[in-house]
Amino acid sequence: MTGYLRNYWYLAAWSHEVAGEPVGRTFFDQPVVIFRTEAGEVAVLDDVCPHRFAALHPGRILGDAIECPYHGLRFGADGACVHSPFSDKPPRAQRVRSYPVVETDGFIWFWYGDPELAAGTPVPDLSEVRQTPTTELIRIHNHMNADFMLGLDNLLEGSHVGFLHRDSFSQGTDELAQLFINGDYNSYEEGGRVYSCWQFSETPSDYVKTYWQAPAICVIEKGQDHSIPPKPRRMIGLHLFTPETEKSAHYFAVEAFDPEQDPPGYGEMIAELTQKAFLEEDVATLEQIQRNMGDVDLLDSGALLLSIDGATYRARRAYRKLLAEQEEARLKEVVDA
Ligand code: FES
Ligand SMILES: [Fe+2]
Repeated sequence: MTGYLRNYWYLAAWSHEVAGEPVGRTFFDQPVVIFRTEAGEVAVLDDVCPHRFAALHPGRILGDAIECPYHGLRFGADGACVHSPFSDKPPRAQRVRSYPVVETDGFIWFWYGDPELAAGTPVPDLSEVRQTPTTELIRIHNHMNADFMLGLDNLLEGSHVGFLHRDSFSQGTDELAQLFINGDYNSYEEGGRVYSCWQFSETPSDYVKTYWQAPAICVIEKGQDHSIPPKPRRMIGLHLFTPETEKSAHYFAVEAFDPEQDPPGYGEMIAELTQKAFLEEDVATLEQIQRNMGDVDLLDSGALLLSIDGATYRARRAYRKLLAEQEEARLKEVVDA
């Protein structure tokens, strides 16, 4: 990992995860607390009290504020101190850093970079996952002790499905492996996205197409789903990462189904299968890879290249270019100031 892209919306949590108690998480090496005020507004603050640096997330929610569990200072959703048990006038200037937040369709997004840029940047439009008015979303959240870039590498290279997911998606057979081996693969960049495409036969609907967009979003579209029969129609999955540290990440994923069109029990089946595949197979492997790679970036690793690696390397290079542009802009800002 070579650094974080700052001025982007990242997923902090699913809405259902922030219901009652405040949630403590670490993003970009910084502990944060995510909480919902009694009025229902979601806030993301640094999880460090400015008095004696206690963590706020074990504290209570009182009205629109979170109470520090150590000496009772209270902080509002904007991070300002709104109450002190020891003074009639709360030290409002004493504030905790707060992050811009947007909650929409069960996604809680937060803005990691310059807050002034947040208002002019819409949150990612991921509505394509809902293909019908009755689509339901299965929302998954896992933690992994691996750089999120390894997660992106994994998603941009579909052929591992036939091997790593032999016992889950491939249901103990070599069929999926053969499908990818016999398929046509290509990768390309378009509109700031990197695409990884497999065409399995002459049939136009027989494909898997994945794209990455900065900073850490992958959308996987399957024309037909060969892995989970009976599923003849198009299927879209979302995968989103938020870095915890340079070597660990929150891994959010969405699978969609339609109870009016899919067989009974399909939603439960897909939830169980994907969780097994992601956690026991993908995440376990990515954690081993992280241990083996240590601090080396894939682009500098001298790794063996295969024909299936095009999109992974394109995305890595695109990410590195965005990082360089971010550094250039930061330098310009300082030098021109
Ligand atoms: S550490 Fe938070 S009020 Fe003292
Ligand atoms: Fe996988």
